[in-house]
Amino acid sequence: MSTRDATMMDDVAEILLDTETISSRVRQLGADIARDYAAKDVVLVSILKGALPFLADLMRAAPIPLALDFLEVSSYGTSTETSGVVRVLKDLANPIEGRHVLIVEDIIDTGLTLNYVIEHLRAQRPASIKLCALLDKPARRIVPLQIDYRGFEIPDKFVIGYGLDYAERYRNLPFIGVLRPEVYRR
Ligand code: PRP
Repeated sequence: MSTRDATMMDDVAEILLDTETISSRVRQLGADIARDYAAKDVVLVSILKGALPFLADLMRAAPIPLALDFLEVSSYGTSTETSGVVRVLKDLANPIEGRHVLIVEDIIDTGLTLNYVIEHLRAQRPASIKLCALLDKPARRIVPLQIDYRGFEIPDKFVIGYGLDYAERYRNLPFIGVLRPEVYRR
């Protein structure tokens, strides 16, 4: 293990979901999605940047014709809390009118970001909108949301890895871990 790996691992308090656990759940979700969308014109809409590793694995577990598109949003707030005020930094590249949209997200926390994103997409008149989230942290929910495909329910801990960051770091950890509180209190 290099010094940099050791430093990143030193900041992990515990491994919540290991690589194999994530991979097996993502394969199940992909199979469910493939079954439900087999005959539909579906666009996976992913929210940059945290959902990228999940999207990459999920789409390869769903062997059906599908399209990809991306939204980038920024929510104002502190480094560990969302404020609910959302701004679209990058909008979809292609129209979704009349198409089936499946939003692919890494985590639903307060629900404020997704609540905004769903309204934003609904205004573009897709045939349907459903939500697939790898992680659900219900203890923090402010806006109720229906998660149609959910990977795992997790406790109210600050999680990093498999796309999730703290101050843009740790996204490349191959598991989902809990960040040591000392790191964000520094
Ligand atoms: C995360 C996550 C969701 C949002 C969820 O994104 O990807 O978009 O926070 O939080 P909420 O339910 O409280 O609104 P983040 O803003 O960290 O951006 P990132 O994907 O680039 O890491």
